[in-house]
Amino acid sequence: MSDKSPIEQLPQQNVLVKVEDGIAWVTLNRPSKRNAINPGIVYEMCDVLDAIELTEEAKCVVFSGSGDAFSAGQDLKEYFREMEKAHPAMRERLQRANSMWQWRRLMHFSKPTIAMVNGWCFGGAFQLLCACDLAVADEDASFGLSEINWGIIPAGIVTKSVAMALSQRAALYYILTGDTFDGREAAKIGLVNFAVPKDQLQAKTITLAKKLMEKNPVVLRACKSAYHYVREMSWDASAEYLGAKLDQSKLRDPERGAVKGMSQFLDEKSYRPGLGNYRRED
Ligand code: ACO
Repeated sequence: MSDKSPIEQLPQQNVLVKVEDGIAWVTLNRPSKRNAINPGIVYEMCDVLDAIELTEEAKCVVFSGSGDAFSAGQDLKEYFREMEKAHPAMRERLQRANSMWQWRRLMHFSKPTIAMVNGWCFGGAFQLLCACDLAVADEDASFGLSEINWGIIPAGIVTKSVAMALSQRAALYYILTGDTFDGREAAKIGLVNFAVPKDQLQAKTITLAKKLMEKNPVVLRACKSAYHYVREMSWDASAEYLGAKLDQSKLRDPERGAVKGMSQFLDEKSYRPGLGNYRRED
């Protein structure tokens, strides 16, 4: 058994991680390759997510990139060309690991997640962006579904991610033209929540993270799971599932938020649900 914490055990090569004031800052770290997602990032990220999950001080996760890129998408050389020569089982293993961190795991991650888009964001990076709960962008960051321009479709799970995040008109426009767009446009079409000048990007992200960290974490997690699952369910199944999910979150909530909130409003008259949070610390 190592004395080191899960985060101290990470290699901190392709992905940097630090925890400060409750926020786990996860930085894709291949600035010379514009943080293109290579097998190194993929496998390290799987461990990074495990380590953050195990770190109690990490209450919220922010993803961004080193240097002037968020991420230029999948690595065309290391992820695609070189893997064509690899054993099919190795290729499958890599694709499985990539879907795991960028989609399956992240979309349902136990802690809230924010993409902080600090620069170039292309192709496969849309998976990471869309899997995060919320997103803030530098208003001058450059986004693009460039796949059409070099003869492939946005695969992995990019087309699905974009179809779920954007309107049909916006999604098809950018899938079919490959046009680049900036952070302001990304906010306008709902791909990110906010676009701000570069020098305000971190502060805006911290404000958002703090807002999430004030909430009841068990309920926060249940809210996001419920959101993702009901999108794929019928109305009847959704009603049944949400009823069960509500009971589950009440049962799993150690601070018994529902009882507290109700009592602060109805009995103590010390809290108005329309004006903010119930008092979590009593
Ligand atoms: N895969 C592999 N290497 C990349 C990638 C990538 N997706 N993006 C950038 N790089 C590498 C370049 O090959 C270059 O490497 P080198 O120094 O060894 O020649 C280095 O990163 C720097 O790239 P430049 O193009 O010189 O940087 P610049 O700042 O001028 O441009 C930009 C940045 C616009 C992001 C450009 O690199 C680019 O268009 N990249 C590809 C973007 C893209 O289409 N991504 C989708 C990939 S497909 C997918 O994700 C499914």
